[in-house]
Amino acid sequence: MSKIQKIKGFSDLFSPESDKFVFMEQTAREIFSKYGCQEVRLPLVEKTELFSRSIGEETDVVQKEMYTFPDRKNRSLTLRPEATAGVLRAFIENKIYAQNPIAKLFTCGPMFRYERPQKGRMRQFHQVNVEVLGTDAPQADAELMFMVWSYLKALGLDKLSVEINSLGCSACRPVFHKRLSAFLDGLNHEELCEDCRRRASTNPLRVLDCKVPQCKALVADAPRISDSLCPACREHFDTVLSILDEAGLPYTHNECLVRGLDYYQRTTFEIVSTAIGAQSSVAGGGRYDGLVKQLGGPDLPGLGFACGMERLALLLDNIGTSQLDFFLAVLDTSALNRAMIIAQHLRDKGFSGEVSFDAKSVKSLLRQANKDNVRTCLLLGPEELEKDQIIVKDMATGAQKAVSQNDLEQALGLQR
Ligand code: HAM
Repeated sequence: MSKIQKIKGFSDLFSPESDKFVFMEQTAREIFSKYGCQEVRLPLVEKTELFSRSIGEETDVVQKEMYTFPDRKNRSLTLRPEATAGVLRAFIENKIYAQNPIAKLFTCGPMFRYERPQKGRMRQFHQVNVEVLGTDAPQADAELMFMVWSYLKALGLDKLSVEINSLGCSACRPVFHKRLSAFLDGLNHEELCEDCRRRASTNPLRVLDCKVPQCKALVADAPRISDSLCPACREHFDTVLSILDEAGLPYTHNECLVRGLDYYQRTTFEIVSTAIGAQSSVAGGGRYDGLVKQLGGPDLPGLGFACGMERLALLLDNIGTSQLDFFLAVLDTSALNRAMIIAQHLRDKGFSGEVSFDAKSVKSLLRQANKDNVRTCLLLGPEELEKDQIIVKDMATGAQKAVSQNDLEQALGLQR
């Protein structure tokens, strides 16, 4: 029979790689709860329309990257390519805004995008995601930056840079749009990459952050969005930056930072690592005032970010796996059942450990205990069984002694 293999761009994670994901999730819970975030668990599949209406029809994600399929009743469904749209759908559907004027929601899990797989870019990848709904205060933007920065620091990461920009609002963005379109019209479109030739008419802002060197050079003299911000957006952005300055959070104002999703307004940001090659953006986010309303909810502002866990994992050293307290080595089949009872009793008392399911020679059992990296090996053979004893062997020093089974808890406790 031929083997069935996993799908391209998807991965199986075993320890120690999976330990990194547990660490990233636990740290996220710990850090984000300090800011009052609550965890939500949402569906991986949503109606396709949710994503086309929020992320934007003209984006690469919606145009080329979604896993979309009809269900058995021919309704178009999509594996979520990101979490924001689903969080907002759930926020609106469950009327979360009626309970609390400001909701801070954290979620993490797999996302799906049909991209060309490479290092740091998967078709199933994972995000740690935070959304803050119900405030347009620039202080909330700064707090969001503190949140993501503290998270990355708590993971022990450095050599990261924060790029930030303001994309303006529905009042001033169209003015910039017009100026940018006029500039792009004046370029020789033959010189733009294929994507930018299309974007120049469908989504001109995206031409600004194209990574193709030739496009970069062509837009070097493009109008600057900061020159088109309305006074309210200007003041909002200046306030965000002044809080970051005062807190000493380092950032670069990147006028070309646009982001690949259409819902952003005002503050947008990305956190980039120099240590992982081409797919360098480890986190991205920003404000999306207007999106809740656009999805049929009340007119509430919002903002958020997501960190790419595969990319963070590339930056994390192996997380040490925790050592087991004991390995209970059974020297004779007559002791197998008793060993299970003793081990279960020890676990009930808070110790961690494993039992050998077969009786083997002392040598091979000790080899197994060494391989499993346990603190103490317990040896149980017919002689110990008869005397109600067990041999306790300290794997670090090699010292061993026979103790009564009643004293085992105490003996193990001393080994910790
Ligand atoms: P995004 O920039 O599309 O934003 O994705 C956020 C992060 O997810 C990226 O910085 C990257 O680390 C990771 N990522 C994206 N695509 C892949 C991939 N194919 N393979 C591995 N990692 C990937 C969003 O998704 C927004 N929903 C963020 C947000 C939340 N904005 C507001 N709230």
